[in-house]
Amino acid sequence: MLKVENINKSFKEKEVLKDISFEIKKNSIVGLLGPNGAGKTTLMRIIVGFYSASNGKILWDGKKVDTRSEKHKSRIGYLPENNPLYMNLTGGEYLEYISELKQISKEEIKEEIFKVAQQCGIQNVLSQQIETLSKGYKQRVGLAAALLGDPKILILDEPTSGLDPNQIIEIRDLIKGLSKNKMILISTHILPEAREICERLIIINRGEIALNEETKKIKNLEKKFVELTA
Ligand SMILES: Nc1ncnc2c1ncn2[C@@H]1O[C@H](COP(=O)(O)OP(=O)(O)OP(=O)(O)O)[C@@H](O)[C@H]1O
Ligand SMILES: [Mg+2]
Repeated sequence: MLKVENINKSFKEKEVLKDISFEIKKNSIVGLLGPNGAGKTTLMRIIVGFYSASNGKILWDGKKVDTRSEKHKSRIGYLPENNPLYMNLTGGEYLEYISELKQISKEEIKEEIFKVAQQCGIQNVLSQQIETLSKGYKQRVGLAAALLGDPKILILDEPTSGLDPNQIIEIRDLIKGLSKNKMILISTHILPEAREICERLIIINRGEIALNEETKKIKNLEKKFVELTA
């Protein structure tokens, strides 16, 4: 289980996250909602070890983790906001490059790429330059990269943003399928999407948790969101 405990983050004088605590259980998807600038991406960056928290800690199965450690990094697959891919590489080259960064052994790389490509349905476009792929396929390449090394936790920052309705459904189904043996934290501005795939929803407003509730217990999410973030 991944636990986030009393996380605070300030950039200079500006307090961006205030006392954030929640947990993600095994085989579950937690949705992170909130208006632009609420602090979702900052929180995700702290969990993946890209930023350090000003205060608070991250725990893995009850033990405090060093989010900068290789061990923590190998547990986490991260799809950043706006999915920054290397456009002049092919999908296959990119996945090879990320495999090396993730220190996947030479002997395993090929098999590992084959596995994630199959999971994300990109086997047929691996030799195509990323720049020439549709947005939906670019997103799949990013997701495949996050899946390399079979991380236990997936942190997905707006994975369906900017996709057409068909691609949204496909990526969403893909994510739903992945949750069977992973913990997933996903941010989105699409409330029906959050309702459909997440077991629990967290609404962040101005850096504070305004709601943390099982999805099935939330009656009118749209109304609640507006009330809590107005
Ligand atoms: N590196 C940084 N330096 C200074 N301020 C930052 C930095 N990163 C984020 N912020 C500020 O922190 C606040 C939260 O930003 P963040 O990107 O986490 O929001 P978000 O919830 O992800 O928003 P969005 O829905 O637009 O993606 C914003 O006020 C932002 O300007
Ligand atoms: Mg963001």
